[in-house]
Amino acid sequence: MSQILDGQMISKEIRERIKEEVNRLEVKPKLVVILVGDDDASKIYVRNKIKACENVGIATEDYILPKDTREKELVDLIEKLNKNKEVNGILVQLPLPKHLNEDTIVNTISPNKDVDGLNIINQGKLLNRKPVLVPATPKGIITLLKRYFVEIEGKRVVIVGRSKLVGMPLALLFNHANATVTVCHSYTENLKDITKQADILVSAVGKANFISGDMIKKDAVVVDVGINRQMGHIVGDVNFKEAMEVARLVTPVPKGVGPMTIASLLENVLECYDLQKRDMK
Ligand SMILES: NC(=O)c1ccc[n+]([C@@H]2O[C@H](COP(=O)([O-])OP(=O)(O)OC[C@H]3O[C@@H](n4cnc5c(N)ncnc54)[C@H](OP(=O)(O)O)[C@@H]3O)[C@@H](O)[C@H]2O)c1
Repeated sequence: MSQILDGQMISKEIRERIKEEVNRLEVKPKLVVILVGDDDASKIYVRNKIKACENVGIATEDYILPKDTREKELVDLIEKLNKNKEVNGILVQLPLPKHLNEDTIVNTISPNKDVDGLNIINQGKLLNRKPVLVPATPKGIITLLKRYFVEIEGKRVVIVGRSKLVGMPLALLFNHANATVTVCHSYTENLKDITKQADILVSAVGKANFISGDMIKKDAVVVDVGINRQMGHIVGDVNFKEAMEVARLVTPVPKGVGPMTIASLLENVLECYDLQKRDMK
């Protein structure tokens, strides 16, 4: 009988712990969120992140910039925020409009304020097994699996998707936990033969019903990262009904990886706060 990996419940536990921690602090941590343009999905993500911060007592400030904002203006704003001691974390909502270079922007954020863990310094630390700020979605996935006592060491993990935000950092985290990791992408041949071998299968593709039941090994653990809009509903990449017939544990969408991402982001704001306090000593 399959069970769900309840990201909503675990996220709530983490957020309550963070709220208590923030309550004990004299000076509250502060996150600045920057959104360039008016993409509807991005606006919702930003709103949810701000709400989640406010619910645990983390202060926020948002900058909503027009979509034709010049790179220099955005870089200047980030540099000003880097210097501002009242700002602990900076998040630039991605994707950015095409004329802005995401690498330039993300690497302008001070590594100690990089709540998304996407700065090249933080990526390097992750590669070198010295991570402090790890991208929120991969971090949340590992936390969720650990909370359900899913064994990772020695297991065969297949990740479909190789983005800098999800697939690649997640592959490193699984590797550090001694799993044998295969990362698949749009050029992968015979995908089903590979996914069928996975003890833990993660899909981060962004296509509804991409993973069908016949691609899943019996009793596997299935993690669905995808967020897709289908007939007015949010669905993942995995055919949930079919997965529940084959797998042992499955993350639902919504209420699976999404809430874990938010909880990990809040943890990262506190990490930034601690890093900066340590720097001042
Ligand atoms: N729940 C959350 O908190 C959360 C957080 C972040 C993202 N997401 C969602 O997760 C999904 C992935 O996000 P992302 O930022 O990683 O997306 P992305 O940058 O678009 O990456 C998608 C990946 O899927 C691969 N892919 C596309 N078609 C494929 C195919 N037919 N076979 C195998 N691989 C294929 C691509 O391969 P190539 O590299 O070869 O192009 C790419 O590596 C999206 O739906 C996004 O909305 C959810």
